[in-house]
Order: sequence, then C-alpha cells, then structure tokens
Amino acid sequence: MRQIPSSLSAPRTPELLRDFEQFKQLLKQRTGLDLNQYKFEQTYRRIYTMMEHGGFRKFTDYFRHLAADESRLRQFIDRLAINVSELFRNPEQFEILRTQVLPELLKRSPFLKCWSAGCSYGAEAYSIAILLHELAPNRPHQILGTDIDEDVLARARRGVFTESDMRYVPAEFKTKYFRAASENGRTLYEADPALKRYLRFEHHNLLSDPYPSGFDLIACRNVVIYFEDDAKDRVFRAFYEALKPGGYLFLGNTERIFNYAQIGFENPSAFFYKKPITEVQRWRNAS
Ligand SMILES: C[S@@+](CC[C@H](N)C(=O)[O-])C[C@H]1O[C@@H](n2cnc3c(N)ncnc32)[C@H](O)[C@@H]1O
Repeated sequence: MRQIPSSLSAPRTPELLRDFEQFKQLLKQRTGLDLNQYKFEQTYRRIYTMMEHGGFRKFTDYFRHLAADESRLRQFIDRLAINVSELFRNPEQFEILRTQVLPELLKRSPFLKCWSAGCSYGAEAYSIAILLHELAPNRPHQILGTDIDEDVLARARRGVFTESDMRYVPAEFKTKYFRAASENGRTLYEADPALKRYLRFEHHNLLSDPYPSGFDLIACRNVVIYFEDDAKDRVFRAFYEALKPGGYLFLGNTERIFNYAQIGFENPSAFFYKKPITEVQRWRNAS
C-alpha cells in the first residue's frame, strides 16, 4: 500500500492549469491513460505533490522526466492509483454475499465465474475465493482479479497479506486458509494453494479496455469513486453487459448507482445490483 500524501494547497495559477492540461494530453498519448476521466481535484493535488517531491515546477517538465525512463513512468502510474484494501473489507457486506447472494447464485449454477475489478493486491478476490470454497468446495470456480497497477497484480499472484489486511478475517478462516510466517520481525500470511487455484490476475483498464463477460458476480468496490460521473456511468453499463442474467454487481460502502433502473439493474439490497433473471427469457426468445 503506497499512499501519496497530497498537498492540500496545490497552487492553481492559469499557467499551471494550462500546463497540467498539456501534461494530461502527453500522458494519454504516451500511455493511453486518460486522466480526464478521473476526478480533477484529487488527481491534480496528487500529481502536483509528486511533481513537487521530484523537484519540478512545471507539469510538462515533470512529464519529460517521467517519459525519459519507462520504469519511472510505470512507477508514476502505479503510485497514482490508490491501492488501499483488506480482506473482507466492510464485513457486513461480505455477510450478505455469504448468506444471500452466493447461495442464490450457486442454486442456479454449480460453479461461479467472478470478477474482482480494480482488485489491488487481491484481498477482495481472495475473500470471495474463501467464501466459495466454504459454500461449494472443489468446484471449478473462476475468479478473475484485474487492475491497472502491475505491482499490485504481482502481489496478488503471490497471495501474501499483512496483519492489518487480515483484521476482518474470521479466526477460523485465518487458521484454515493462511500460513503465517515471520519476515523482518512482522507476521505475513500466505494464502493456501486451495484458494489460489480459483484465482487469476490480469492487467485491465476499466476505462479503455474491452470487458470480459459471462460473470455471475462482479465486485468493483472503492474503484469508481475516483472516476468522473460520465466514466462511472459507462463502467456501470459495461458491467451490466458483462453479467449473466441473474448476476450481481457488488459495490463499495460509499457507492451507489442512482440510475440503476434505467440501466436495467434491480437493487435488492444496499451495495448489490442484480441483472434481472428475466433477461434469460429475453435472451432465449431472441435466439
Ligand atoms: C482502493 S483500491 C480498491 C481495492 C478493492 N477493490 C477494495 O475495495 O478493497 C482501488 C484500485 O483501483 C485500481 N484502479 C484505478 N483506476 C483503474 C482503472 N481505470 N482500471 C482498473 N483499475 C483501476 C487502482 O489501481 C487500485 O488498485
């Protein structure tokens, strides 16, 4: 987890704002990352802070510095994304997943295809793997974890978590699914291979890449909060298409889809949006 403390008082002269617009254009041309789809305030402050730490006064000079070295540029993008996560984050929501959503999905299909979109270092994907293994063990469940940050994806593939990542993991799961080891004076927890076989981690940009499809469950939590409203709306509509009829979209604690009915979703409980099962009929009638 690497959080950049952002400068609260990032100055904003017309020159700096023009320079920042140019920075965004250059970055998009070079990497495809379109910062116009992220919330302005947050993005501006974070990049200003990084630029200042690097000893630069102009965004375009900072860009030239980043662009001169591919690994520096990648590191910049990785640091821009906030990767905070933990297993069973907002445990009460995972309880709804365990007691209501997954059992319903497992009645319709013996094994599930899930996507943790914006998975960071995999805590959410591993939490889903634990619940599936508890409810329907040893079936060929598939859980795809995706993110734009290559460093967190590498961590997710290792499946190693810190003590603080583990604070909401029920004690019985902690002993059953993790092997504790001491490293440099701290305890790390490595996930059991029984979980890892369900999981696959890949690079995917929610704002520019084509979406995979056929999912029973998509968890996208604490990711779209950084996106502008238009981008958010496109992402929610794309998730709708990516779900099977009867499938669920699982959002974060502070996230809502206000126009869910317009997209086609039902909202059976807070943070869970369902693609109606009647889609099956529509889809069958159409074929
Ligand atoms: C705060 S973490 C959320 C992790 C996890 N979903 C959770 O709720 O604990 C947000 C993640 O979204 C990723 N992210 C940001 N923009 C993204 C994009 N355009 N496409 C895919 N992932 C993105 C970041 O790299 C970061 O790892």
